[in-house]
Amino acid sequence: MPDEHTMKVHLSYGDKTIELPVLNGTDGPSVLDIRSLYAQTGLLTFDPGFTSTASCESSITFIDGDEGRLLYRGYPIQELVQQSDFIEVAYLLLYGELPTLSERARFSEDVTYHTLVHEQISAFYNGFRRDAHPMAVMVGVVGALSAFYHDSLDIHDANLREIASFRLIAKMPTLAAMAYKYSIGQPFVYPKNELSYAANLLRMMFAVPSENYIVNPVLERAMDLILVLHADHEQNASTSTVRLAGSSAANPFACVASGIAALWGPAHGGANEAVLAMLSEIATKERIPEFIKRAKDKNDPFRLMGFGHRIYKNFDPRATIMRQTCHEVLNELGIKNDPLLDLAMELEKIALEDDYFIERKLYPNVDFYSGIILRAMQIPVSMFTVIFAVARTVGWVAQWREMITDPLQKIGRPRQLYCGKKERRFIPVEKRGR
Ligand code: ACO
Repeated sequence: MPDEHTMKVHLSYGDKTIELPVLNGTDGPSVLDIRSLYAQTGLLTFDPGFTSTASCESSITFIDGDEGRLLYRGYPIQELVQQSDFIEVAYLLLYGELPTLSERARFSEDVTYHTLVHEQISAFYNGFRRDAHPMAVMVGVVGALSAFYHDSLDIHDANLREIASFRLIAKMPTLAAMAYKYSIGQPFVYPKNELSYAANLLRMMFAVPSENYIVNPVLERAMDLILVLHADHEQNASTSTVRLAGSSAANPFACVASGIAALWGPAHGGANEAVLAMLSEIATKERIPEFIKRAKDKNDPFRLMGFGHRIYKNFDPRATIMRQTCHEVLNELGIKNDPLLDLAMELEKIALEDDYFIERKLYPNVDFYSGIILRAMQIPVSMFTVIFAVARTVGWVAQWREMITDPLQKIGRPRQLYCGKKERRFIPVEKRGR
């Protein structure tokens, strides 16, 4: 439970003054507890997009958007990237502490044990058009997992929640790789449990039965880093979607499918794909000013993809790490002159010097660079958001578990400011004069 601050906010409305408590977390802004507001005043609050609303209490991830800080369970993302790996970070997000050696080994084995999917699941893929977007496939197939694992759907049983968590985290890379293989007409590749989580994903995507496939350690490390950086990001759109779906006691597979749907949008996880599309459209450095001009034009819906963030009003720390890695990966892969990367660097430079972007604190976000790295790793553009979904599944699952065990948890049910017609009488069709 958060500490109740000694401070109160006094709110006067009409002839009434009420007192609302201020609650303190361990870091970040305090919150005004408005739970009694409606009962005391008959007023609701109005906050489209939740720009000033804390929707829950959470101990998992902390973002300081002004300082550009990101902590998983208190650990700075930079330290985790340098000293840890995805499987450890997954454990940390789920259980709150870094694992001991034996806990790590056990967790890794538990996740590995669940990597295979039921053979019948492959039949689902055949139902999709070959050119279906893999995110469309993922929404369907992950949702369909609830039809395969009846034995882990009881969300009130802690043991079953644990099994469902392992299943989701373990099977996501398998399902993601299957979506890719299906799209290019290659046979599905089964997981190989001796490999790391990242290496397994790469192998299932790129191996073919006719040849040996050895995972490039540079790519494995880069993939692991991408997974760590995307593992959780507090109450973003997709995580809030998972929590909202879960608040009605929906099963975790259905909840994660709803998270995947929310992630797909270009304003959220779909941005890494949109960045590449935008760079291809800009095509040459000479055309950058034209696109910057469009981004600033209020009458033009165009936005610079990969720029701006609801919370970060300083550099996104994930973007800083990704930017460094981007150069390392390109160097290691021997990609000396990548025209798209050159274009991206020029765009970044011009945007960072432009008053419009400076005034609005619009910095490149993680998606600006992740697309470039993923492309260098030969991951097809349509799979970018799928990789993001694989990583974020850990965060979704951790947040879902936290919600289920939260004594304050209630079904999520926002209110509205109704601006429609007042009550009126029905008009029979023959009397409708329009
Ligand atoms: N290009 C041009 N202008 C922008 C951009 C952009 N990318 N982002 C924000 N702005 C402008 C807005 O027009 C607005 O200007 P105004 O004050 O003159 O009206 C101002 O900056 C504030 O923008 P909002 O839309 O109010 O900011 P919000 O917090 O709602 O949106 C978002 C954040 C959705 C990320 C937005 O910056 C955006 O659309 N960015 C591009 C898409 C993108 O990269 N998304 C990935 C986010 S990170 C992730 O999900 C992992």
